[in-house]
Amino acid sequence: MTSAQISSAWEALESHNDQIVEVHMRDLFANDPNRFARFSAHLDDLLLDYSKNRVTEETLGLLMDLAATTGIEDWRRRMFAGDTINTSEDRAVLHAALRDPSGELTPSEASARAAGEIHRMRTLQTTIRNGGWTNIVHIGIGGSYLGPQMATAALAPYATGPHVHYVSNVDGTHLMELLAVFEPQTTFVIVASKTFTTDETMTNAKTAKAWLTSALGDQAVSQNFAAVTAERTAAEAFGILPGNVFEIWDWIGGRYSATSAIALPLALVIGMERFEDFLAGAHAMDAHFVAAPLQQNLPVILALIGVWNATFLGARSHAILPYGYRLRHLPRFLQQLEMESNGKNVTRNGVAVSGTTAPVIFGELGTDGQHTFYQLLHQGSDLVSCDFIAAAKSDNGLDNYHSKLLANFLAQSEALMLGRAAPTGEPHRNFPGNRPSNSIVVRRVNPRTLGMLVALYEHKVFVQGVIWGINSFDQWGVELGKEMSQRILPELTSVDTASGHDSSTNGLIDHLKRLREEDG
Ligand code: F6P
Repeated sequence: MTSAQISSAWEALESHNDQIVEVHMRDLFANDPNRFARFSAHLDDLLLDYSKNRVTEETLGLLMDLAATTGIEDWRRRMFAGDTINTSEDRAVLHAALRDPSGELTPSEASARAAGEIHRMRTLQTTIRNGGWTNIVHIGIGGSYLGPQMATAALAPYATGPHVHYVSNVDGTHLMELLAVFEPQTTFVIVASKTFTTDETMTNAKTAKAWLTSALGDQAVSQNFAAVTAERTAAEAFGILPGNVFEIWDWIGGRYSATSAIALPLALVIGMERFEDFLAGAHAMDAHFVAAPLQQNLPVILALIGVWNATFLGARSHAILPYGYRLRHLPRFLQQLEMESNGKNVTRNGVAVSGTTAPVIFGELGTDGQHTFYQLLHQGSDLVSCDFIAAAKSDNGLDNYHSKLLANFLAQSEALMLGRAAPTGEPHRNFPGNRPSNSIVVRRVNPRTLGMLVALYEHKVFVQGVIWGINSFDQWGVELGKEMSQRILPELTSVDTASGHDSSTNGLIDHLKRLREEDG
């Protein structure tokens, strides 16, 4: 499509926005008893209700035109074919191959490699199950832990293996707290790092190695360690047995690795059969994303609604609100997925984007969030869009609790949409309403539905990246701070007064040094 066609699709939406600004969702609902049926879609057990957004059939039509003119279908074809769509890093983007054992959607070379690692994970699972291990410590950061951590919490009812503990931060407190109460003999450590160079991860890995070898001798590294990485040689040089090194490849982005061997601890804990159900759920969403017409395509719809809210209606924050303790880590997982992918101001072609891109993603469990930041959602001066997420059934058997949870889940999106006029003379009790939200419902949080949810958001982010014209698969924005911290590190122990920075950074370095020296 030409850039003129893309511009005219944007312009059509802009002028449509001028009309919709006057429309209140409560009137849209009052005028259309079928609005829920019209503006909801499902795949198996997963329902997406997007009716509580400021959209009409016309809005959706114009958004679909935008998607078509930006070439979504072609980009999707190219991604699944293994084309080098991550151009700034010269890489293909093939996370769909991780859950495509028969190569139905993705190149067979990639899917066969992924299936090979699953097979090897099964062997390790048997060793771990029979080996008397009680604790697994997974060391990784960013995409090398957020997905597995989120999924391990979500699927805790399916756990049959050892306990898994995730350590990410380069703050020794976390690791030391764990090691203080663990037995070296029964602790298995997984070092997950695509690059095997990330400072946080390698610092923690070396600490764990020292802890194990001082108790058990040098052979502990070969017995008590596994690695997941794209850098096999570096992992082996660390001392990890070749058979315990699991591979990912440059065509798996860190934040897109939740269904790769990076999720090894999840597989060890829930078992390979359940892990494969998780992959099958993601594959089902992949197949839907590839085949369903754009108008019925869940990731496409979710993406377009997100673009409408963030770029046209100006909702520069988006809340992820799971109603279910099991999904407590979903907001932070999606924070990385969306913000590291689409928090960009330069297009694929290297020119400044003309509008806005990813909103700020934040979130919290319902109902905790209701007692912290929902005030702003209902009455704040900014528009915040929301994804409410719930399961019809809980695994805790406490139906009285779950009914209350669901009543809150339903009430919040209804209140945000409807609003309520203030009693006379009490403007502080006015609820303007007309605040957009999606509701995502599954029957239960189980391996399959969780896999579907992960792939739903992965593809949502991809579609949005295409519409905004950005490369969703690189992350240059994280480099500068990393580099500068390497330069500052020796200055924190130097006897010289800091001088190589701005006065704030110099002043802070010296102040911290002084405090540390005073404290001995
Ligand atoms: O935060 C930057 C980043 O490169 C993420 O994209 C990635 O998930 C994380 O660091 C960890 O990287 P690695 O797996 O190489 O340790």
